[in-house]
Amino acid sequence: MKKICVIGLGYIGLPTASVFAKAGYDVLGVDVNKRVVDLLNKGEIHIEEIGLPEMVREVVAAGNLKASVTPEKADVFIIAVPTPIHEDYTANVDYVKDATKAIVPFIEKGNVVIVESTIPPRTMDDVVAPILAEAGIDPYNDVYLAHCPERVLPGRILIELIENTRIVGGITPEAATKAGDVYRAVVTGDVIETEAVTAEMSKLMENTFRDVNIALANELAKISARLGVNAHHVIELANKHPRVNIHLPGPGVGGHCLAVDPYFIIEKAQAESPLIAESRRINNSMPDFVVEQIGRLTAELKNPVLAVCGLTYKGNIDDVRESPAIEIAEKLLADSRYDVRIHDPHVRDEQVPFKLTTLEEAAKDAHLLVILVDHTEFKLMDEGKLTENMKTPVIFDTRNCLKVADDTKLTVHRIGDLTKLSAIQEASLL
Ligand SMILES: NC(=O)c1ccc[n+]([C@@H]2O[C@H](COP(=O)([O-])OP(=O)(O)OC[C@H]3O[C@@H](n4cnc5c(N)ncnc54)[C@H](O)[C@@H]3O)[C@@H](O)[C@H]2O)c1
Repeated sequence: MKKICVIGLGYIGLPTASVFAKAGYDVLGVDVNKRVVDLLNKGEIHIEEIGLPEMVREVVAAGNLKASVTPEKADVFIIAVPTPIHEDYTANVDYVKDATKAIVPFIEKGNVVIVESTIPPRTMDDVVAPILAEAGIDPYNDVYLAHCPERVLPGRILIELIENTRIVGGITPEAATKAGDVYRAVVTGDVIETEAVTAEMSKLMENTFRDVNIALANELAKISARLGVNAHHVIELANKHPRVNIHLPGPGVGGHCLAVDPYFIIEKAQAESPLIAESRRINNSMPDFVVEQIGRLTAELKNPVLAVCGLTYKGNIDDVRESPAIEIAEKLLADSRYDVRIHDPHVRDEQVPFKLTTLEEAAKDAHLLVILVDHTEFKLMDEGKLTENMKTPVIFDTRNCLKVADDTKLTVHRIGDLTKLSAIQEASLL
């Protein structure tokens, strides 16, 4: 039976390790965080992902998945450690370097070494391969070294790990084939082989495509606020064109992928990437735009009570990394004019630097309820209860996710449709 060593047991590494363990491989999960390792050895997990608690319990009980703080010899090494950005927006590949150095003493001739972490173009050739070479391992001949980026959607990770098409970029054609075979054993989607740098770049461009298109939708939301147009209606009509697909505006772009990956390209080709850089700036400006609109919506009140709903960077997950909702909550909390209550059913107190309340507590006597994340719980909110409990039944839906009855007593403002603002507020805008 093949042994696989997965380095980094987060949102990507832990499901990956579990899927290989479930397929019958002998898997060792390695993490520098001892709490993660101890939990996993008890069959428990530290993250939220649909189906993962059950799968981990099963594969740990079966003895197929174990965890440790140090690697061991294996046939295949898969690195899935974080690749955040530095304060200056350059890529921090230190975790990838550390993880590579950690496995070097255990690598043997013929092993497959895969980096799944998202990395700047040329990192496999210019950073990872030289670390092996310095340790006396020829990266082009002794091992099969490849980059296989991950493109799963949180909330559907266990399904997409199996069904998605995988791009496998080898630093040699043989490495691509050998690494591809690792995935072919468990993946039902296509496994496409290419060079490492093409795989690095294709992953980055997937997320950059989405970031740039969201920036266009966000720019439309701002234009619409200025001109008194309903952007959601505009998008609906424009998208009737067979070759147009305008994305949805929102409160900003978060997460460790869309909000980070475009910078990896900008860093390597700054002069050639002004569109990508401007899109990042537009998306980064959205929290301020939301705060500004909250100011307009509550301008006539002395001490508005705000119920802020949602902190994660997208719906139905517990991940708050780079979340624009956190930035918005912090900005509102810093403004003494507001009494701010914050609620997110997926977030635990220890994840955020402020106190959380229940939805009922947040909405009680609130003048404005602000939806920052499209969690199902918010989409299914009981309108009757809300209107009863709120001082003024007004909602600012920054995700355009709320479905309200035609005869609703709620007033709903949407990020792309602020046309219902009062005349005084309209006047202050123009
Ligand atoms: N989460 C996603 O949806 C997603 C999707 C596509 C790509 N990615 C990419 O996958 C990579 C991993 O992301 P993630 O979301 O799983 O990160 P994560 O932060 O959830 O998990 C990373 C884990 O690696 C551990 N770690 C850090 N340095 C280590 C080391 N030297 N040795 C062993 N363990 C170490 C951390 O303790 C942590 O538990 C990133 O490059 C990310 O951009 C993530």
